[in-house]
Amino acid sequence: MSRPAWPLVPAPFPQARLRRTRMQRWSRDLVAETALKPADLIWPIFVIEGNGMRQPVKTMPGVDRLSIDVAIDEVAKAAELGIPLVALFPVVPAERKTADGREAVDPENLVCRAVRAIKRALPEIGIMCDVALDPFTTHGHDGLLIDGRIANDETVAVLVKQALVQVEAGCDVTAPSDMMDGRIGTIRRALDAANHPDALILSYAAKYASAFYGPFRDALGSGGELGKHGKATYQMDPANSDEALREVAADLAEGADMVMVKPGMPYLDVLRRVKDAFAVPTFAYQVSGEYAMLKAAGQAGYLDGDRAMLESLAGFKRAGADGVLTYAAVDIAKRLKAG
Ligand code: PBG
Repeated sequence: MSRPAWPLVPAPFPQARLRRTRMQRWSRDLVAETALKPADLIWPIFVIEGNGMRQPVKTMPGVDRLSIDVAIDEVAKAAELGIPLVALFPVVPAERKTADGREAVDPENLVCRAVRAIKRALPEIGIMCDVALDPFTTHGHDGLLIDGRIANDETVAVLVKQALVQVEAGCDVTAPSDMMDGRIGTIRRALDAANHPDALILSYAAKYASAFYGPFRDALGSGGELGKHGKATYQMDPANSDEALREVAADLAEGADMVMVKPGMPYLDVLRRVKDAFAVPTFAYQVSGEYAMLKAAGQAGYLDGDRAMLESLAGFKRAGADGVLTYAAVDIAKRLKAG
């Protein structure tokens, strides 16, 4: 973004009246500095086993867990609306979870089957998959617990295999969300070695240890036994933003194509700093708790939920995001189309 020659703006009041351009809808549109469009939206969906299944997530009004066949129908509608990318999160049945999350590397697991089925039915839309073990582990951590600690290098070795089975199933965008050190470079080298030089990596680069992930963990059943530090030994401290720049720099140096700041609304300052510092494709995740707050307040009649949702998504664009992951992607794309 270029900097205006402030404070060399010529006219004082009353020659300058900043309200002039605000007087009509057309002139407001004409001078709008940013605009949200369906192509900016990434839609996260929760996938379950079964057929014809649609299971509401209690803490996320309007969000359902979908079986693969239903997901195909819904993703088709999203594609029709111009949404370019969907992010798949598997709801792994409790009996398939283990302490080491080995289900994550099975090429026949739920998320790999979902990727193959959606890709076959809808080759034109992009598919993104998380790389992290939390949907698959009994404790709900993103990595391997060894002697009560999340073991970095041992975890990375598993994440690499997870990324490979997903890409081999047809996933277009690999999205490591685990916050282990060194995982981007290791995954990039493994993808190259396996002849996937064009596989995209969107790194959850600046991901904070946040209370706003609560409803997501309800949706996945992954919040149960995180222990007294929660995920604070690998996800970032909400107090920090210089550190976010180091995280992003490391991931770009290791071969990330795109980076993400997460959560969204409480971290708009971090988003702006990242975009200004690196000028690379930068995304924000409006996470489950943010979505839930807006929806709940709208349902309670405390505010106009739809307008508040649009405004908060516009805020991400203004703060420098190239795109936003939001559970409201389909609703918003419909509203944007309707004008
Ligand atoms: C898993 C993951 C999480 C989210 C996306 N990937 C949760 C977590 O780190 O505990 C959160 C998304 C949301 O809250 O909407 N690593």
